[in-house]
Amino acid sequence: MQKRTMIQAAIALALAGTGGAALAQANVFKIGLILPMTGQQATTGRQIEAAAKLWMAQNGDTVAGKKVQLIVKDDTSLPDVTRRLAQELVVNEKVDVLAGMGITPSALAVAPIATQSKTPLVVMAAATSSITEASPFIVRSSFTLPQASVALADWAPKNGIKSVVTLVSDYGPGIDAEKYFKDRFLFNGGKVPETLRVPLRNPDFAPFLQKVRDLKPDALFVFVPSGAGAAVMKQFGERGMDKAGIKLIGTGDVTDDDQLNDMGDVALGVVTSHHYSTAHPSAANKKFVAEFQKANKNLRPNFMAVGGYDGMRVIYEALKKTGGKGGGEALLGAMKGQIFESPRGPVFIDAQTRDIVQNIYLRKVEKKDGQLWNVEFDVIKDVKDPGKSK
Ligand code: PHB
Repeated sequence: MQKRTMIQAAIALALAGTGGAALAQANVFKIGLILPMTGQQATTGRQIEAAAKLWMAQNGDTVAGKKVQLIVKDDTSLPDVTRRLAQELVVNEKVDVLAGMGITPSALAVAPIATQSKTPLVVMAAATSSITEASPFIVRSSFTLPQASVALADWAPKNGIKSVVTLVSDYGPGIDAEKYFKDRFLFNGGKVPETLRVPLRNPDFAPFLQKVRDLKPDALFVFVPSGAGAAVMKQFGERGMDKAGIKLIGTGDVTDDDQLNDMGDVALGVVTSHHYSTAHPSAANKKFVAEFQKANKNLRPNFMAVGGYDGMRVIYEALKKTGGKGGGEALLGAMKGQIFESPRGPVFIDAQTRDIVQNIYLRKVEKKDGQLWNVEFDVIKDVKDPGKSK
């Protein structure tokens, strides 16, 4: 309560003290991009920042007569820092839009600031279903874990996998992944003998993997956030889980394209479901990947990059639609209902939920030209977040 009052007072003060500053700002459109640039989620920050800059390099920094200014801040993926940075960006910088949000707790920490200041918040990474319900000013360009998990729970039992142990990071997206995978897999006649949760910070997967080895399910379903997949894969291989006949499956976060090429042969054959693969074979994606790699020393864009790239498009289109006038409510209105072709395929920002509707692909890790790729072999079209249908 006290925190809320402080935020409101700060915002009121800022609005009262404009005048000359407002004139100077009139032709600038500011995007406050808050990302984890250091720490455990640093790859997410690096990917999204690179993608946002690529979007601006390709589309210019003047939109409907306004000069777009991108202000990047590092929250080190600590939600208290995210909240403080968001407040500073709204109050001092008077940003028109907030964006980024590497992890769910960061998005939830900023939601009240978006609501109170009527600043649209474009969530480009965080993927817990409920985030969009935390503020009417949130629009999401990433994905949700229920969206990604259900397809795999339909695929697995048709492909010889009858029992699955789940292993997820113990926070919002992991709990969503566990619930939506498990419920659907049980509905499809599968068995889930155990559900395991590992801490988000500095996880040690070894004791959990030992437990899985003892339980000997047909497969282990994994969700860990982007950046943590390589550690899981390494320990899975070291413990000989694959040799013991246990398959690894998961949402595509575990075979993250940012790390996949360094995971080695243990990743070969791993089946995941997700909304984006660097190997997605469309012309739009080939162009996106080539230009992203050219601008970033050959770094592969991953699903975080595509969330950032599409989030920038949503912001640019909204500014265009308002004729450069902006304004929180007008921008928000212009973000709702956007339809476009993303590097991931066709997408749609559902006007009712403000969440993204998109294809979910089933993919298998394969080696081509000496490199590992998530090769898509099936698609479920236009998937809405199942977390919203209740
Ligand atoms: C999240 O915290 O919402 C999150 C982070 C990384 C992912 C997915 C979800 O890969």
